[in-house]
Amino acid sequence: MTNERDPRNRLNDLDARAWTYALRSVISTAYPTRGAASLAHHLRRKHPSPKPPQLMAELIRFFTRRHGHILDPFAGVGGTLIASSLEERTAVGIDLSPEYATIYQAVCAELGIPPQTYLVADARHLLDLPAVHERPFDLILTDPPYAAMMARPKTGERRKRGRPQPTPFTTSPADLGNLPYHEFIRELSAILSSALQVLRPDGHLVVFAKDLQPTPEHHNMLHADLVVALRQIPGLEYRGYQIWHDQSQRLYPFGYPYTFVANQIHQFILIFRWRGE
Ligand SMILES: C[S@@+](CC[C@H](N)C(=O)[O-])C[C@H]1O[C@@H](n2cnc3c(N)ncnc32)[C@H](O)[C@@H]1O
Repeated sequence: MTNERDPRNRLNDLDARAWTYALRSVISTAYPTRGAASLAHHLRRKHPSPKPPQLMAELIRFFTRRHGHILDPFAGVGGTLIASSLEERTAVGIDLSPEYATIYQAVCAELGIPPQTYLVADARHLLDLPAVHERPFDLILTDPPYAAMMARPKTGERRKRGRPQPTPFTTSPADLGNLPYHEFIRELSAILSSALQVLRPDGHLVVFAKDLQPTPEHHNMLHADLVVALRQIPGLEYRGYQIWHDQSQRLYPFGYPYTFVANQIHQFILIFRWRGE
């Protein structure tokens, strides 16, 4: 294997060795949460589920070249946007919440990086935003809510000491994180379908998904249902998934001492290629 970039490689700036490493099916990470290497984790952790910019950077390095252009319709406190800056790419982020936008600005100031374009808006109307039409995107990289996972009412079981408590992202009815499962999938598919209109042909859509616990009514494998829904979009090709194993997640004795309830210390990274309409 050579260390030089193959001239046929128009996707990224990686050589064969770095390309091969990027293809591992499980990305297992333990990023620092203190000090300069944490990339202002103390500010970003005010969001209920910030994505590590280091993880987003790895995906950005695979799916774009230097100076590539990235869209995140669910930007939060800017995991994708921070990574874009660190990797010398440009980005547009959208989020409903002005509070998360303010935290993102503070993170940029602390890290000494220029902020990317951050639009406080409802992603359901993203095509109305002039900034998304300025230049075609090479990559849509996003970490949407996972149906009503963060907003579910606290049951007696969940109130027990030591159990993680869900926090909604926002209280807005426009927040996809406040929608029931099947409605959530419909709305998310519609948003991503409209975002594809500003993605260049052969660009990629990379979406994080976390499964919910099964219920008697449904398996709740959100990642699988999302693949089924997104495969309905003409021109969008499902390429496969990687698993993000987050070593920072604590284990809880769910179900003890009666029955099996999985701790979910991983998320799915769903990868699609846009062939164009
Ligand atoms: C999982 S979080 C994203 C976290 C982000 N990756 C980060 O690093 O901070 C999902 C985000 O989607 C936002 N959101 C939910 N519904 C939205 C909508 N209709 N339009 C725009 N943003 C929305 C929430 O405010 C929340 O910040």
